[in-house]
Amino acid sequence: MHEESFYFNFIKPSPIREVFNRISKDKSIINLTLGEPDFDTSKHIVYAAIEALKKGETHYTTSYGIYELREAISKRYERLYNANFDPEEICVSHGSSSGIFTTLFSILKPEDEVVIINPYYVMYPSYVRIFRAKPVFVNSTFENKFKPDIAEIEEALTNKTKAVIVISPNNPTGGIYSERWFKAISDLSQDGHFFVLHDEVYESLAFEKHYSISQWADNNEHLISMSSCSKTYAMTGWRIGWVATHNPLLDTIKIAQNYVNLSLNSFAQYGAIAALNGSQKTVETMKNAYKQRVNYTYKRLKDMGFIINEPEGAFYLFPSVKNVAKSCVDLTYALLNIAKVGVIPGSAFGSAGVNHFRISCATSMELLEEGMNRIEENLDKIMKACSVKNLSRIDFI
Ligand SMILES: Cc1ncc(COP(=O)(O)O)c(C=O)c1O
Repeated sequence: MHEESFYFNFIKPSPIREVFNRISKDKSIINLTLGEPDFDTSKHIVYAAIEALKKGETHYTTSYGIYELREAISKRYERLYNANFDPEEICVSHGSSSGIFTTLFSILKPEDEVVIINPYYVMYPSYVRIFRAKPVFVNSTFENKFKPDIAEIEEALTNKTKAVIVISPNNPTGGIYSERWFKAISDLSQDGHFFVLHDEVYESLAFEKHYSISQWADNNEHLISMSSCSKTYAMTGWRIGWVATHNPLLDTIKIAQNYVNLSLNSFAQYGAIAALNGSQKTVETMKNAYKQRVNYTYKRLKDMGFIINEPEGAFYLFPSVKNVAKSCVDLTYALLNIAKVGVIPGSAFGSAGVNHFRISCATSMELLEEGMNRIEENLDKIMKACSVKNLSRIDFI
């Protein structure tokens, strides 16, 4: 780190990337670490982008997205959630990541508080700290399926609370928040004058009904929906996301977006229009494939004795290490070095994840099957290695 990188003091490198970088050097490892769809982007989306390139759509666009794309996003909100965002109430971003960043940039000042449910998507606390604001963690537990009661959120609110972040379907836990929960947090935000930021990048991967905060937004300017094409359309590399809200704050987000990105990728936006307006058949196909993989992996792990919540959405499982190891880091090392299977220790997602590990099922059934076979065949060895007092990880490397 360069000593003059003042803001770097507020962020930590993603532990997921660190684990991934180590694993990706060894091809014999079955890598179940990353949330990267293994499907290719559908052809009709690719062709739309190629067509745009051929037509010369290779110049700067607005920093908040071309009108046709914002219109397509607006229509999708109406189609899926009966939510009425005017295209002007939508800001396209460079993946949801830059939308999350510019939204927090637009609402936070130093000392503000942001409620984050622990375990969390690793980027959030760092995003909040960059703006010298304070993440306030509400711990969730395996027993409540990692979804704290609204009363627990209420307890964390103070007169400094600027926002509550909810991720549903959730990374890393795979949980989905209920209609009742969303209604309650929406009511609370109106009374308490804080924002609710719903990160719904896994919205198409709900195995039960997905509720979007946008469903309550018509009468509540405190609600902000953030999503992207990344997981829904297997378009992680295209970098198209968005923020939608009725709050006039959106104008500030658009200006912030101008400073951060100047323009968005022109031809990727045309691909995104084709994705949003075109056939949604592949979205359904991918969801069913993920569901099958997640259910399969869930069953295999449960049969091996892992304690694990039933999958509800996204492509993650978040099993407990309890029956197998004393620490999630020990187990991760043992899985990696004995079974040659890469997973992420739950501690990477916050203190409430410390007795768990995350498996990503965004990979083929064959690899998942092989991964589960390797864990099963080596389970005794793994448990024995993890039972050693003062286990030295050097033993494994
Ligand atoms: C919960 C969550 N939010 C946001 C993102 C960022 O996605 P993107 O910037 O590709 O839209 C991810 C990526 O994995 C995620 O898991």
